[in-house]
Amino acid sequence: MTPLLLDGKVAAAALLDFLKPLVETLDPKLVVIQVGDDPASSSYIKQKVKSCEKVSMRSEHIHMPSDTTIETLMQKIDELNNDEDVTGFFVQLPLPGQLSGHEPEIIKAISPMKDVDGFGAYNLGKMFLSKEFEHLPPATPSGIIRLLEHFDIEIEGKHAVVVGRSNTVGKPVAVMLLNRNATVTICHSRTKNLSEITKQADILIAAVGKPKMITADMVKEGAVVVDVGIHRTDDGLCGDVDYEGLQSKVSAISPVPGGVGPMTVSSLLRNCVTAKERQMELR
Ligand code: GUN
Repeated sequence: MTPLLLDGKVAAAALLDFLKPLVETLDPKLVVIQVGDDPASSSYIKQKVKSCEKVSMRSEHIHMPSDTTIETLMQKIDELNNDEDVTGFFVQLPLPGQLSGHEPEIIKAISPMKDVDGFGAYNLGKMFLSKEFEHLPPATPSGIIRLLEHFDIEIEGKHAVVVGRSNTVGKPVAVMLLNRNATVTICHSRTKNLSEITKQADILIAAVGKPKMITADMVKEGAVVVDVGIHRTDDGLCGDVDYEGLQSKVSAISPVPGGVGPMTVSSLLRNCVTAKERQMELR
């Protein structure tokens, strides 16, 4: 049987439709900081700006040269934190060499009220406490949850296995699933007998960063699989999952591209709307 396609374009379009009238009323503004010319980053930013246009959200792309110093970047962050017209902003990662070691202090410098990526300690902490306490939850994990909910995939009581433990995806999505009453196992590069664990998953979240690493022999019959990876190969884009190989085995699967990617972008815009709502309450 053909598995259910967890189509991120469809689920993201539904979220954007929901956001459009809110954007019209609240008039938020999203700012993107790009340092350098990483081609993948340029392409992601284009998608983010395009989605803003779809809901008529104001956006600005600040493009800084690749030799930007930490002092200059911090000054820009300070300026955006204090600009009342800017609702939310983020610094696109990865950063060029001289800045990459400064990521923690860069993330820390962004006001928690404007941290639409949800990468900072305040927003991660709120997300950690309970699903009701979420303020600006991290965009990709939040997009994964929304993708599952859009297609009525039950989370409660299910065994969710997350492969990957990054601060931006693996760890937070595990907590978000736990807060929705899944039983959660986190696996990573040092996990022994990985496939013994992934084979137990009702819901498998692949966020490993290795092309087609999750193969059919590693999944249970009827599992729901969400692929967070995106890799440019000679044969085009692929994810962390062997999509073709899993087709005859799983009950639902997200494609790459067109799965988690559009959900991250729409969740970022969702956070920008939430940020504006909260800022107006505070003023
Ligand atoms: N690079 C790849 N994905 C992301 C993201 O969601 N946010 C930021 N800031 N950088 C990224």
